[in-house]
Amino acid sequence: MPPSPHTALSADAVKLAYRRWAMVYDAVFGSISSFGRRCAVAEANRLPGQKVLEVGVGTGLALPSYNLDKRITGIDLSTDMLKRARQRVQRQNLSNVDNLFEMDAEETNFESGSFDIAVGMFVASVVPHPDRLFAELKRVVKPGGHILFVNHFLAQKGIRYHVERIMAPASKSLGWHPDFSIESLLPPEELKQATLQPVHPFGLFTLVSLPR
Ligand SMILES: C[S@@+](CC[C@H](N)C(=O)[O-])C[C@H]1O[C@@H](n2cnc3c(N)ncnc32)[C@H](O)[C@@H]1O
Repeated sequence: MPPSPHTALSADAVKLAYRRWAMVYDAVFGSISSFGRRCAVAEANRLPGQKVLEVGVGTGLALPSYNLDKRITGIDLSTDMLKRARQRVQRQNLSNVDNLFEMDAEETNFESGSFDIAVGMFVASVVPHPDRLFAELKRVVKPGGHILFVNHFLAQKGIRYHVERIMAPASKSLGWHPDFSIESLLPPEELKQATLQPVHPFGLFTLVSLPR
């Protein structure tokens, strides 16, 4: 059995956590995660297809990095994070951002096959049910499209494994699962098809790319 997160976050816990984090999110997490975010957006920019869904768009840190020929729809559960994303779009005049919706990425309102690419950056270990997130992204991305994640996944062994296990009970206040395993997100047959690429800092994060 794959290791599973000790503490599941509910949607309400996510909203509460990110209400607290919204004000300081960019300052606290912006730079440590910037390389992973840049790698994921670079990959999205390289892939064919125009219509991109960014799930868990947060404060919109990645939005300015998409090529102008990509049309972006961002969704998030947190009103407070989205408010900052909207301010960023306005401030930087990001004309390729079509929509920012308050919506659950596990159960969206989009029709099947609405997007060419779905991107989830540092969100897979936050959503209450990562398996439902993946199933929903498969539904809304058209066949021939791509699904990208960048995330921290539980180390397989060593000091990091033990530290992440010890941190796990703090999931609720952190707003993410330090002990999140890739097997909680992807079924074995999908994992076989995925390309995994460690990214800085120190391979702490992984870029996951999956053909749909
Ligand atoms: C760690 S932040 C990442 C934000 C952004 N992707 C980034 O790279 O900075 C996780 C975000 O996912 C959002 N989130 C968590 N569960 C969600 C869900 N089920 N549907 C949509 N957004 C969700 C949170 O509100 C938060 O804004």
